[in-house]
Parts: sequence; C-alpha cells; structure tokens
Amino acid sequence: MTTFSKRSTVCTTPNAIAIALEKLRNERVWVLDLTMSNPTRATILRKGSAILEAFHRKANLRYDPAPLGLLRARQAVASDYVKHGIALPAERVVLTASTSEAYSFLFKVLCDPGDQVLVPCPSYPLFEWLARGDSVELVPYRLVYDGVWHIDFASLEAAIGSKTKAVILVNPNNPTGSYVKASELQRVASYGLPVISDEVFGRYAFRPETEPGTTALALEDALVFVLGGLSKQAGLPQMKLAWIALGGPERLVGPALERLEMLGDTFLSVGTPVQHALRKLLELEQGDGLRAQTRYNLAWLEKQVAGTAVTLLRGEGGWSAVLRLPRVHSDEAWALLFLKEDRVLVHPGFFFDFEDDAYVVVSLLPSEVQFQEGIKRLLARVQLSIS
Ligand SMILES: Cc1ncc(COP(=O)(O)O)c(C=O)c1O
Repeated sequence: MTTFSKRSTVCTTPNAIAIALEKLRNERVWVLDLTMSNPTRATILRKGSAILEAFHRKANLRYDPAPLGLLRARQAVASDYVKHGIALPAERVVLTASTSEAYSFLFKVLCDPGDQVLVPCPSYPLFEWLARGDSVELVPYRLVYDGVWHIDFASLEAAIGSKTKAVILVNPNNPTGSYVKASELQRVASYGLPVISDEVFGRYAFRPETEPGTTALALEDALVFVLGGLSKQAGLPQMKLAWIALGGPERLVGPALERLEMLGDTFLSVGTPVQHALRKLLELEQGDGLRAQTRYNLAWLEKQVAGTAVTLLRGEGGWSAVLRLPRVHSDEAWALLFLKEDRVLVHPGFFFDFEDDAYVVVSLLPSEVQFQEGIKRLLARVQLSIS
C-alpha cells in the first residue's frame, strides 16, 4: 500500500480571495496588486550589467565542494557585517540556498520530531509549512500594538515548556515592521534558549534614525543564529544564497557549526557562481533603491490616511505596511470588496494570524503610480462603506 506523510499534506482548498482573483484573471481583468513583494519586479533602476558581470569568472568552471560555503563567500558576508558596524568572524558564517533552507537546517540541528519552537504572532506565514516539513511544533507568542509594537512577555513566558528548543525573532517583523528592542533581546536571551533571529529585512529601516536596528549578534551569552540573505538584502531572490551568522559562546557555537557542516555536506545546495559573485553583489548595495521606494510609498501613505477612518500602524522597517480598517467588515470581507469592486489586491490580516479584525497588509514595493492608485481606490471604498 502506498501512503504519504502527514507533513507533506497539500492544502487543496483555495480561499475566497484566491478564487475571486483567479476568476478576474481568467476574465483578463487587470488587478492592481498591492501584495507585490517580488523585488525583481520592482520598477526602480537596477544595476543589471554589474550584476551579470559579477558572474563572469573562470573560477565558476571548477567545483570545490564546501559544506559551510566557500571561505571567500563567507568572508564576503563577514566583511559586509563589519562594514555595517557589526563584528562577525567569517568562520561563524554558514551559507544556505535560502532563508527557508536555513530554518530547515536549524530545526534539524535543534529539534527532534515533536519538539517546539516559539514564533511571534502575527508574523511570516511560511513558518507553519517550514516547521511541518521538519515535524516541529510551533507555539505562538503574541506581539501587541498600543501605538508601538512590542513582545507580550507574559504570552512568551507561558509558551515556554519542556519541549521548547528555540525562540524565533523576526527583526524587523513581517508584516508589522517592528524591530526587536535591545531590552527585549536581553530578556529573550535570559531564558537560556537558542535564539533564531530572522533579520532579512534588517537594512530596511523606514526612518534613518532607526538604522542600524539591534541585531541579535549583540547577545553574548545565548546561542544565536542570525538569518540574512540576498533575497531581501540585495533584492535578488533568484540567486539563491542566504546565510546563518552564529553568535554566542564558543562552547555552543562550535558544536552547532559541526552539525551545520554535516547537514551542509549532505545537501551542498549553494551554487558555486553565486558564491564567487557574492562580494560584488553585496557591494552593489542594491537594497538602497528598494529602501528608497518603500520609504517614498510609506511617506505618501502616511499623508493619505491622515484624517480618514483608516489607521496606519506604526512600523519601523521592512517591505510592508499594516492598515486598520473600520470593523464594519471582517478583514477577509474587506479584501474581497477591494478586489471585486476596485480591482485592488491586498492581504487580509488573518493571512499573518492577526488576532482581531480588520487589518489589511499592503506591500511598499509597487511603483508609486500603482501604489498610489491602489491606495486611493481603497480609501474611497472605505469612505463609501461607512457613509
Ligand atoms: C521574515 C521572512 N524571512 C524569510 C523570508 C524568505 O527569505 P528567502 O527568500 O531567503 O527564503 C521572507 C520572505 O518573505 C520573510 O518575510
């Protein structure tokens, strides 16, 4: 008899928004996509030729397997951190093909099936699938908003149990845009658990004064895994290169590196050309253009929502903005209304596990023309619905 694993179960029922979107696309109706978060589709100027030139190297014709990544590429990551004021030895950098793969490696290194990892809520929806793939159970802890986002430590502490193997921080968080404050970091570290700090959006502070956000690499006593990658930092997800930067006492970092090396040796998943190109790709600082785009759209959005029934929640960084709408509809009903009546696609808050109604999330990456048109339609619809 052929059976399949529970952890590879495919969810086949599309939600109402996906169904409505497909219908519109089949009818060839153009939809303004305010969920667009693919940096390669952002219309800002790109450094295309310089990127391609970085790959034109003889060294790419050779294969020298390196489980943790080629030393020169690990050094490139370390230099980039140093350039941004963070000390990081190259020996503590591990390369992976994506942040998703980094999560999977870390779940394997830290957890046995059935073990638990704490995750912020609301946050990145992919955690559920990543954890399921490694038979790890996620236990949420709350992020609360009262004019500013912060960790609800009562919920975090209540979530810690005998099976807890790590705490995940997303810094800044997707989609709330909240950085983990230095005092919060210290408190999380005080539990003695390994900390996985996803800092893929770390360089995307909305306001210059927030830069650089506090990195978990500043922690000295806990075993820390900071995640970063080309996908967000350089807007190059197609290159498939991410990293884990390890921090903490050598007696913990050493064995963690040994295990990561064993996993890296099993998969050897990072391509050689992107490793040789890495230093150049990082030096190009492509993220600058994306950051300018997000800041521009956000500043415009702030002005537009002022004095309306829509509240823009205060975020500090990342690629998205959270809007609180009047609770005359659920978040899903609002998203459906915008899509069907206004041809504007937004993410409903439930997609990120927001506790209450009615939040929607918009990406700050679309061109200003599309962004402004989409937001104008959204605000007009809200005004109409409450008058
Ligand atoms: C918080 C967070 N981490 C990681 C990723 C994905 O990174 P990668 O493309 O390196 O897997 C995303 C993508 O949206 C994200 O929002």
